[in-house]
Amino acid sequence: MGLTAGSSSWPSCISPACIFLAVFLVLSNMPCEAHLSPTFYDHTCPRALNTIRTAVRTAVSRERRMAASLIRLHFHDCFVQGCDASILLDDSSSIQSEKNAPNNLNSVRGYEVIDNIKSKVESICPGVVSCADIVAVAARDASVAVSGPTWAVKLGRRDSITSGLSQAATNLPSFRDSLDKLVSLFGSKGLSARDMVALSGSHTIGQARCVTFRDRIYDNGTDIDTGFASTRRRRCPADNGNGDANLAPLELVTPNSFDNNYFKNVIQRKGLLQSDQVLFSGGSTDSIVNEYSKSPKTFRSDFASAMVKMGDIEALTGSAGVIRKFCNVIN
Ligand code: HEM
Ligand SMILES: *[C@@H]1O[C@H](CO)[C@@H](O)[C@H](O)[C@H]1NC(C)=O
Repeated sequence: MGLTAGSSSWPSCISPACIFLAVFLVLSNMPCEAHLSPTFYDHTCPRALNTIRTAVRTAVSRERRMAASLIRLHFHDCFVQGCDASILLDDSSSIQSEKNAPNNLNSVRGYEVIDNIKSKVESICPGVVSCADIVAVAARDASVAVSGPTWAVKLGRRDSITSGLSQAATNLPSFRDSLDKLVSLFGSKGLSARDMVALSGSHTIGQARCVTFRDRIYDNGTDIDTGFASTRRRRCPADNGNGDANLAPLELVTPNSFDNNYFKNVIQRKGLLQSDQVLFSGGSTDSIVNEYSKSPKTFRSDFASAMVKMGDIEALTGSAGVIRKFCNVIN
């Protein structure tokens, strides 16, 4: 990007003040840095945040698990093409929906809660608030609704006009991934191993399907508590295809409240997913799991910071992207 005095765009720009202004204009148009801010809608849609919060509270009081689903929705949005609401787009002639990616299909939930919030927000401020921001705020409000930590959500994301079906397969972690694989995947999104362990702590709430933990509870491994394995086998039959969708709580002690019991369980070899247990398997993240199991305060504050960091992933800002009118289709 060349800015030389007398360049053709500013033929008469020779005074220092003018050059300063020109440099400022160039820098402020550079698309490389996101300019997200918690006050982004303060003037353009002051009631947006209250509207979202009320709707999330209602959804969570109707079904407690929805808090978990909304937090996960934000995570799966951010890891594929960035936090751009790409996960919300339905299949169409021009869209290959992320909703149908293996990690999302019959698994990610909460789409209709977001679509419903969007219609409420559109009715008070048409065309102003992005779907990507609604997802980010809903995740925070969901955490608060189940006594989890709070944080200031940075705002100003814009929505994609594409969905990343094929990227989803490689960018989302699998419950079969090794610790090294998980660390490098989160690293590629700008998140540290510590962020990853903190974020995995959201498995303190929510549910998983039998198909995601069957191998672990039947392979007689040494990294699983035998009593825990036999309890989980009761509602998750050994044969593939049998009871695949049966649910079990990701955290067995207090599955509906956001606390640090997840880490205590993992230390007792009672992590439900293989990807939970690898965080405490003699590797580099053991000490972090130990720390969070002892200090709910540290876990809560690290979780909040990591959620803010996750919300920054490849955000579309300025004139990039659009504000969708409906979250599930492009305008
Ligand atoms: C470290 C890599 C991770 C892996 C391999 C992983 C994998 C999974 C799997 C397999 C499920 C159950 C899905 C199903 O049965 O359909 C699940 C649920 C969940 N995950 Fe993760 N996850 C990871 C990290 C995260 C992160 C970073 C967050 C949030 C910041 C998160 C939040 C959740 C929540 C809240 C649920 C429960 C959702 C519900 O009940 O609807 N996970 N995860
Ligand atoms: C686990 O142990 C049970 C009982 O001893 C046995 O029937 C089963 O085949 C074992 N599973 C694997 C994967 O080795």
